[in-house]
Amino acid sequence: MVERVKTGIPGLNKLMQGGLVKNSVILLSGGTGTGKTIFGLQFLFNGAKDFNEKGIYLSLEESEEGLKADVEDMGLDFNEVSKKVKFIYMPPYGTTNFLSPLKDQIEKFKPKRVVIDSLTALVMPLEDNFERKKEIFNLIKILKRLNCTAILTSEVPSESNISSDSTGRFSKFGIEEFLCDSVIVLHYAGIGGESDRAIRVVKMRQTNHVRGPVSMAIGKLGISVLKTKY
Ligand SMILES: Nc1ncnc2c1ncn2[C@@H]1O[C@H](COP(=O)(O)OP(=O)(O)O)[C@@H](O)[C@H]1O
Ligand SMILES: [Mg+2]
Repeated sequence: MVERVKTGIPGLNKLMQGGLVKNSVILLSGGTGTGKTIFGLQFLFNGAKDFNEKGIYLSLEESEEGLKADVEDMGLDFNEVSKKVKFIYMPPYGTTNFLSPLKDQIEKFKPKRVVIDSLTALVMPLEDNFERKKEIFNLIKILKRLNCTAILTSEVPSESNISSDSTGRFSKFGIEEFLCDSVIVLHYAGIGGESDRAIRVVKMRQTNHVRGPVSMAIGKLGISVLKTKY
């Protein structure tokens, strides 16, 4: 029996047999403004509030205050779960030595959920793509050993349209999607219908998931998957 972790995104769990695979590493990919950061925050907030699970949010883009403010109006008040969710801000281009400090933090705080936003920015200061790929490989290996479910966001160039068989890249360096257990892509525009946004589970190990894009919305309560046919 595969243990599942609820995503905190209404309507999403049922596309993936009940949730993410516990202790797996998920690549959350999409262009800018597609909802990756909100997704990550919802995932941690939900874990803390509804399941009493601790979370670490490693941010390379927005400050802790900025992140909290982004979702404050969506019913996610991180002050309610301040003991359970730890934000770590790491300036982009700040350090090339992030693996062991991050590992220490996770070993000390023992979160069940981890979000790294973004993996792309985390490895950017490394010298070249060889080094970046090596560190991504090491990071994913470490996360898999640490008994947490980790979402790594990946910034990809915005796409013009989307269809269920659209391919394209899911990551900056081209290896992230192979190393991660799951790949979820957020899209905007293109499929029409009820929403101009969509979410697609591209791969998820041990899971019979819905494969095509499914309409989603970002609204007053954050991200939700819309009840459409899929
Ligand atoms: N209150 C809101 N209602 C509807 N959409 C919103 C709201 N707040 C943010 N958004 C949408 O979410 C986007 C930001 O999502 P974010 O998670 O920061 O994207 P990413 O991290 O992928 O760049 C905004 O560009 C906007 O389109
Ligand atoms: Mg973001």
